[in-house]
Amino acid sequence: MKKEKTVLRALQGEALACPPVWLMRQAGRYLPEYRALRAKAGSFLELCLTPDLAEEITLQPIRRFGFDAAILFADILLVPSALGRKLWFQGGEGPRLEPLSARDVAVLTRSAVVERLSPVFETIKRLRKSLPAQTTLIGFAGAPWTVATYMIAGAGSDDSGAARLFALQEPRAFAVLVDVLVDATVDYLVAQAQAGAEVLQLFESWAATIPAESVIAYSVEPLKRIVEGVRANAPGVPLVVFPRGAGTNYLQYDAIGADALSLDAHVSLDAVVGMLKTPCLQGNLDPFRLVAGGKPLEESVNSIRRAMRGRAFVFNLGHGVRKETPVEHVAELVALVRGAAA
Ligand code: CP3
Repeated sequence: MKKEKTVLRALQGEALACPPVWLMRQAGRYLPEYRALRAKAGSFLELCLTPDLAEEITLQPIRRFGFDAAILFADILLVPSALGRKLWFQGGEGPRLEPLSARDVAVLTRSAVVERLSPVFETIKRLRKSLPAQTTLIGFAGAPWTVATYMIAGAGSDDSGAARLFALQEPRAFAVLVDVLVDATVDYLVAQAQAGAEVLQLFESWAATIPAESVIAYSVEPLKRIVEGVRANAPGVPLVVFPRGAGTNYLQYDAIGADALSLDAHVSLDAVVGMLKTPCLQGNLDPFRLVAGGKPLEESVNSIRRAMRGRAFVFNLGHGVRKETPVEHVAELVALVRGAAA
């Protein structure tokens, strides 16, 4: 039976004349209504773990722009927090965690993860009732490498140096950490699917920092285990993998067997698309073109649509919406994607 929702159709491999569209970070600081709620809430974590607030923030961009999918409002760092690591968000500086040592790895336990994140599943249940009938609900989690980089360093870093050194100097503790993250992520994603998430996306946001000889061990294999674990326990829920900055290693990620690969803006569609066997692709629009709007935006929307014609595709950015993005440009983008020209 053919599914009605366009995002689900694309993820089943159907090439639609007009691709469905949603944007990573479509809920967030570029929206005045998000900033207003954020200013009232005690903390970012409170927003994520209060179903009323997380539901409202998820719906904000849907009301404004009518995207074909809503992404659950949450964060990839909820998993380390549920594993018992202290997490906080310092104003404007991004996330902070207490840095993880090799000894700390032994005391991580996944048994409380689903219970501690139960507000997230409540948010999902509510959203399935409040979202428009044609809108697909996307759940998500971070990939083990990306989550480990934050856990080990205690913050984001451009080269993931702390995690790279940890993996080389403490190989046993690193392997245990990856195993715990794989298992906790499977539990978390299966619970999201059971609550009503219709698609699950895995963010490997720091794929670019993995040296080539370790891509399989640190990233591709753990992701494959997650994809297989989720499929065994929540069959029929499509999985999207986003290895941001993977470069030529996108070909390694193709072997995971995900339902879709999300492409960053540095991937040349002409050079790469013919080589990928994953049934559906997503992404690729440079977020700075959305900040610029006008001709730079229109040119790129048209060239992406042309390159992806005849192929299952979900329109999206190559990374998240930037906070300086003018709200009008997002409306302009949706109109361009849904327009006839391509
Ligand atoms: O709209 C959506 O995409 C859904 C919500 C969402 C958030 N984070 C909300 C958020 C999603 C899918 C994420 C994923 C996430 N979180 C990733 C992977 C995607 C990516 O951007 O590469 C990563 C690496 C994180 C960790 C994280 N959380 C960072 C690095 C930051 C700080 C950077 C920033 O933009 O401030 C956050 C905070 C965060 N997560 C905000 C939002 C809306 C901003 C919080 C605020 O209001 O101050």
